[in-house]
Amino acid sequence: MKRLAVLLSGRGSNFIKIYENIKSGVIKNAEIVLVISNKQDAPGLAYARQAGLNAIYLNPKDYPDREEYDRAIVDLLKREKIDLVCLAGYMRIITKFFVESFPNRIINIHPSLLPAFPGLDAQKQALEYGVKYTGCTVHFVDEKVDHGAIILQEVVEVLDDDSVETLSARILQKEHIVYSKAIDLIVNDKIYIDGRTVKFKKV
Ligand code: GRF
Repeated sequence: MKRLAVLLSGRGSNFIKIYENIKSGVIKNAEIVLVISNKQDAPGLAYARQAGLNAIYLNPKDYPDREEYDRAIVDLLKREKIDLVCLAGYMRIITKFFVESFPNRIINIHPSLLPAFPGLDAQKQALEYGVKYTGCTVHFVDEKVDHGAIILQEVVEVLDDDSVETLSARILQKEHIVYSKAIDLIVNDKIYIDGRTVKFKKV
């Protein structure tokens, strides 16, 4: 059984979907053993507590700098023997120290087809640019923001009358499917990284 940690800052809908998909067997061979939030009032954290998970709030203001904060997180992750760290709406850029502590074992979901529209407000960026298709990307986390090797992507068509809200909602539906698929592939050892390309292992 692979031990997962989820880091979040807000709503937590991706986390909840992963949690449900583990329970229902869509994701096999995994359990969420730790949820960490940098926001005390994150609804995702409240959900995790109600679900009886080990859910921890770490206040960034209690640490002198970003690296010390990440050292505290890495300590928790190591203590819990975490195999895979899933960032799910975690609104902090993680340090080199953190990335190097879990090489190719940190993944993130981003609401665009990377490398298009990295950073904040990806759905708004896509609308303003006028693309006809956008989507979401699950990728390994490296030292650059929204940059690591791509695991899976899903395409979403942009409609003429889309607002940021309607487009975001359709992308989110795909996020909820693709993030669990990516986790299942990793924990069941179905993929490997070749350069910066993620490939399927041949059976
Ligand atoms: C999602 O759109 C995700 O792609 C982005 O932040 C949002 C988090 O939503 N990284 P939720 O907290 O999982 O509901």
